Amino acid sequence: MDWGEINLKNEVILEAVGLKKYFPIETGFLKKSIEYVHAIDTVNIKVNKGEALGIVGESGCGKSTLAQVLVNIYSPTEGKIFFEGVDVSPKAARNSLGFKKNIQMVFQDPFWSLNPRKMVRDIIMEPLKVHRIVEYECFDTEIERLMDMVGIGKKRMFSYPHEFSGGERQRIAIARALAARPKLVILDEPTSSIDTLSQAEILNLLIELRDEFNLSYILISHDLSVVHFLSDRLAVMYLGKIVEIGKTETVFNLMYHPYTQALMKAIPLISSNGTVQNIEALEGNVPSAINPPKGCRFHTRCYKCQEICRNKEPELREFEDGHFAACHFANQS
Ligand SMILES: Nc1ncnc2c1ncn2[C@@H]1O[C@H](COP(=O)(O)OP(=O)(O)O)[C@@H](O)[C@H]1O
Ligand code: SF4
Ligand SMILES: [Mg+2]
Repeated sequence: MDWGEINLKNEVILEAVGLKKYFPIETGFLKKSIEYVHAIDTVNIKVNKGEALGIVGESGCGKSTLAQVLVNIYSPTEGKIFFEGVDVSPKAARNSLGFKKNIQMVFQDPFWSLNPRKMVRDIIMEPLKVHRIVEYECFDTEIERLMDMVGIGKKRMFSYPHEFSGGERQRIAIARALAARPKLVILDEPTSSIDTLSQAEILNLLIELRDEFNLSYILISHDLSVVHFLSDRLAVMYLGKIVEIGKTETVFNLMYHPYTQALMKAIPLISSNGTVQNIEALEGNVPSAINPPKGCRFHTRCYKCQEICRNKEPELREFEDGHFAACHFANQS
């Protein structure tokens, strides 16, 4: 498979090719030397129209950086981004209103992402104005429609973010994202800061909205049960790289990469008496992204590690149709 090829027949909405984001940091005596955090390091992804791509991995593996490069909060250090087949890698293309309208982001904590000094009406109105979605006279009708869509009573449009619960604030953030009528929504840990019941309601709402508006999603979470619920395909990230990607069910069933296996084993289980327990916590810490391990980045924590793993970086290889894993011993037990 050629990652660089744009396949319009499959209706690819977004494609990233060889994407890198390195953050420079000053280190050493008098902060004279510059080192780089390799936050994302040669990532290739495709998202099809109407599809939800889940991205999972431990904290610090580069999920949020990837999202922020894709929505143009950060410029990539290297690599190309295509939206509906058009190269939007040049800054001017990513800064265009058309691109900004089509790709919207919902952040982890709606408390920080919603301006506390603005009423909900003004928060949702902003994208309507910027992207000229409806005429001025229709703003309130459109805001009411959006609030209704996410299950918040329209009378509350004159309230401020602090007057809502965490789950309700996240619904408002979703309404604001959808106000622009985007084609792709990137959700970065959308349910991590809200209670379990609201989490389930938000995930169901996202499914309904996707079906109604043929939306595509990139859903980022450290929580495998969240991505399992919503994603058609799943990418597993480790230390800035995708180590396994494929259909969600296939990744869950086959778990070719030892890191995917370790993540699965660390899923919290609910026992019969209602207590939550991990069957096996992931051992060791994620190594520094400033000096990532040579060879396979997972070798310092991998039970299968052999000499080759310390020296040669494994490439993403295709095992089944569209199922890739980056491990020298992926299909060997
Ligand atoms: N603005 C930044 N400057 C320097 N390093 C950063 C910055 N943002 C993120 N990082 C680093 O990049 C790596 C990936 O972070 P992040 O994308 O937030 O991971 P995740 O979302 O998976 O937890 C981490 O090592 C983090 O410390
Ligand atoms: S390449 Fe080696 S160290 Fe890396 S995941 Fe595979 S077996 Fe483990
Ligand atoms: Mg994050």
